Order: sequence, then C-alpha cells, then structure tokens
Amino acid sequence: MQLSGREIGVPGRTIPKRFLSAGIAAAGVALLLTGALASDRKLPQLEWTASEWAQWRDGQIARIFEPAKFQGESVIVRSQVSKRCAEAFGVLTPAIRAIDEDPDALKEMGNFIAFVRAQGSMASKSRALGLDVSDAKYWTEVRRFVSLPPLLSSPSFLARVSDPLTYRGAVAMIERQNLGLAEEKQWKVLPFQAQFIKSVDRTTYGRLLVFAPDQEGPDGQMCDKWVTFAIATPGQQGPKPASVSVVTVAKTTKQAYFMDYVRHEGSEGIELMPTAVLPESPSKNCYDCHKSAVVPVKPEVEYGFGKGGALVARAPSGHVALNAKIREYGALAFPNHDKAAYGPCIGPSSSPQRMTVIREMARAEGLGEGAVERIAAAMDCAKCHDAFAPLNFPEPVRTDREVRSMRRGKGIAQTFIEQGWMPPGNTLSHEERQVLWKSLSAEYFNPATSDGVLTDWLKGK
Ligand code: HEC
Ligand code: HEC
Repeated sequence: MQLSGREIGVPGRTIPKRFLSAGIAAAGVALLLTGALASDRKLPQLEWTASEWAQWRDGQIARIFEPAKFQGESVIVRSQVSKRCAEAFGVLTPAIRAIDEDPDALKEMGNFIAFVRAQGSMASKSRALGLDVSDAKYWTEVRRFVSLPPLLSSPSFLARVSDPLTYRGAVAMIERQNLGLAEEKQWKVLPFQAQFIKSVDRTTYGRLLVFAPDQEGPDGQMCDKWVTFAIATPGQQGPKPASVSVVTVAKTTKQAYFMDYVRHEGSEGIELMPTAVLPESPSKNCYDCHKSAVVPVKPEVEYGFGKGGALVARAPSGHVALNAKIREYGALAFPNHDKAAYGPCIGPSSSPQRMTVIREMARAEGLGEGAVERIAAAMDCAKCHDAFAPLNFPEPVRTDREVRSMRRGKGIAQTFIEQGWMPPGNTLSHEERQVLWKSLSAEYFNPATSDGVLTDWLKGK
C-alpha cells in the first residue's frame, strides 16, 4: 500500500503529496508523528521564520557539498552527501508542517526538502537504490516487470552464459530463436567490453548485452527488456563474473523498471537472486547514471567469435538503431523515484554566470574569444534533454565515484562531451570540448564557492 498525504495528514490538515509522494518510509512517518508530539515541547525549528530557514539551508548546502581531496583533486563525496542529507532531513521532518503553512518558507525550502529527502534515503543500507521504499519492497512491487525473458532465465542459457567456453552457445540460442521471429521482433545480442564501470559484482568490464523487444509484461503491457550479463573478457583471471542487470521499458505506460541480479548455484542449476533482497547489496542508485532509462551503447571494444568460440575484437558498428530507442521512448517515469528531486539539467537554456564562467575556463586553456562563442553555442543541453532525460545531479559534478570507480576517472557526461558525441553534430576542437565540459560543470556547481545552477535551484530561485 502506498501512503498518500491524506492518510498521514494530521487532523484538520493534509500534508502536500509532493513531500510524501509515493510514501515516506515508515521511519519518516514515525519521525513526523513524533515531530507533531514534540511540537508541544517546542523544537526551535518549529518557530523559525522563512529567513531563518533560508540561513540554515545555506549552511547545510555548504556542509553537504563540502569537497574532499581525492588524488590531489577536490571532489564531492557521495556517501557524505547521503549522510548529511539524511541529517538535514531529520531536522526538517518535524517542521515540514510548519513550513508548509508558511508560503514564504515553502518557497525557500521546497526544492531543498525534495533533494535531501531523495539523497538522504541512500544513507540507509536497506535503500541502496535511493528509492522512496526499501530495495526489498521495490523488488516485490516490480518483480513482474524486471523478470528475464524465459529464454534468458532458462538453466541451459544461464549455464552457457556463465562459462567462457560456451558464450558462443548462449548467443546461438538467441540466434536460433530469432529465425522464427519477424525482423522487427528479433533480439539483438552484443558481446563487448564496457568503457565506464565494472559489473555490479566488480569482477569485469565484459558484458553480453541482450535487447529483447516487445516482451509481454504484466497486464498485457508491451515491454522492451535490456539485459546485460557480466562476462569474462578474453584471458581474464580471477573470480567468475556473476551479475546480471535489467532495464525494462514499459512502452504503453511509459515507465522504466530496474533490477540487478547475481547468479548462484541452486538446486536446479544456476539461478538468479535479486540484489535488492541481499543484506549487503552491491547495487547502487541506477538513476545516478541512467538519466535516460537506457544508457547509450558505446562499447570500448566489441567482440565477435573466433576459433573454438573465443571472443575476438571486431570493428565497432555504432549501434545507431539501438541508441535511437532512447529518444523514441521519450520521457519515462521511474516508479518510486522522485527524478525532479535531483535538480535541473546541466546546461540550462540560460544562466546568468555563463559567459563569465566560459571566459575564465577558456583563458586558463589559452583559448580566445572565437572559441568562447563556439562553446557558448554548445552549452544548451537542456533544450533536448529536458524533453526526455534531464541530466541532473550527480552527473554534472565530479564526485569521488569518478575517481574511484570510473575506468578513466571520468563520468558519463564528461566523456560524452570530450569524445565529441554531445551535443550532436558539434565541430568543436579537442581543447574546446574540454573547456565545454569544465564550463558546464562549473556553471552547474562550483565546489570552491558552492555556487551554481544547482545551488540556485536548491535555494528556490
Ligand atoms: C555508476 C554508473 C551506473 C550505475 C549506478 C548504474 N549503471 Fe547501468 N550502466 C551504466 C553504463 C555506463 C552503461 C552502459 C554500458 C557501459 O558502458 O557499461 C550501463 C548499462 C546498463 C544496462 C545495459 C542497457 C543500457 O542501459 O545500456 C543495464 C541493463 C543496466 N545498466 C542496468 C542498471 C541497473 C539495474 C542499475 C541499478 C541497480 C544500474 N544499471 C546502475 C552505468 C551505471
Ligand atoms: C539536439 C539534441 C541534443 C542536445 C543539444 C544534447 N543532447 Fe545529449 N543526447 C541527445 C539524444 C537524442 C541522446 C540519446 C542517445 C543518442 O541518441 O545517441 C542523448 C544522450 C546523451 C547522454 C547519454 C544519456 C544518459 O542518460 O546518460 C549524455 C551524457 C548526453 N546526451 C549529454 C549531453 C550534454 C552534456 C549536452 C550539452 C553539452 C547534450 N547532451 C546536448 C540529444 C541531445
């Protein structure tokens, strides 16, 4: 059951749904109710005026995003963001009713409340996915959507995809099935080496991606399923890759569902266990990186099969048709995920500090006014992305994750810009693209000053 504002409204008053949306956790509700009782004991924040709230909020923003040094670079620390947001939300919770009753306070605090609630959820181990329900609860709600198509969860497929000697056989099972399908219903299979992060079980960059279109989901819904199996790259030693990740796009309802699994030996052979039910889930908030439900397929190395079924590098094929699905899907809702709480898109249509930021970054790289103009013309990412997937926090900022876990120490947005893939059709030079990323990132959030597009939004501007 989902809580609505009405259900936990205090007598004579309801709490706006946006603060509680698909249900504050039981803990949050408890806090809220104690808050109501504590109001008799007068918590100081219950008496704060709008400007006192604004002052407290600004201090919290500086504290939440306080950078730390990682390999000589100042970056934002994800775990610290979650922990401090949870603390801020703790202070806010008993006062949400008071804020809501004061339109000035609400204007100052609305975005900040949404942000700290969403980010703070990940401070709890049972909410690694950053949702407004526990990971285990999410699993029970979405399991019918995120199940693998029967072929992929069959013991014979799982056995083949779990042994490098039989990867060829796993792909052959899909190819055999394709023979009986009309062309537009055929599945796509791609063995590749990823360029960004290791698999969920941290064993490999190897992937076997399977795109299974038009799978029948619950209530006869048409679902595209994107399934990626962790596989060993040629010659890879060490622990056996075991994770499997799924993104399901329900095309009629325009919803996206996510789940990671690990393969393990069961009584019937290899079985799948959702990470959402594990006491120590290795999974992370999918929306951190999957701003559109599906991240474009941009392999580091693509594989075909050589003698004896071994993986061998082959010429990349671009995957234009596959990546075009992202735009076709349009804007998708992610159930239990308050996407708007992650702030505005990188590169909004205008920003007061834009030209100053670009000039400063361009000067540091020795670029002149011509370059500044070209870069400024490429800054408007939101004109496209707002329509299907705003690229919001944390993608525009450098965090410890890029330094720790990203293969080249760079995030997805930075890579798409520096490689020249975004914005589409740009003709910027290598140096100009680097300045474009630096300018966009600094415009979004400048760690040295805590200013930027994100901060303005958090302050309700
Ligand atoms: C740290 C960033 C990051 C996080 C967090 C993340 N992913 Fe991904 N994911 C990627 C990237 C990047 C790709 C594209 C393939 C590649 O280069 O690895 C990808 C690809 C995928 C794919 C293949 C289809 C596609 O989108 O290209 C699936 C399925 C997937 N992820 C599922 C998940 C699920 C489920 C979660 C959350 C439980 C998740 N991912 C969390 C970065 C991430
Ligand atoms: C003309 C429209 C357009 C503009 C402008 C644009 N993009 Fe994109 N972007 C797309 C489309 C469409 C995709 C989906 C993938 C594809 O088509 O290859 C995409 C995908 C992406 C992705 C991968 C998707 C994801 O969820 O991670 C990133 C990152 C990205 N764009 C960054 C940017 C940045 C940064 C800018 C501004 C400098 C920008 N884009 C400007 C259309 C645009």
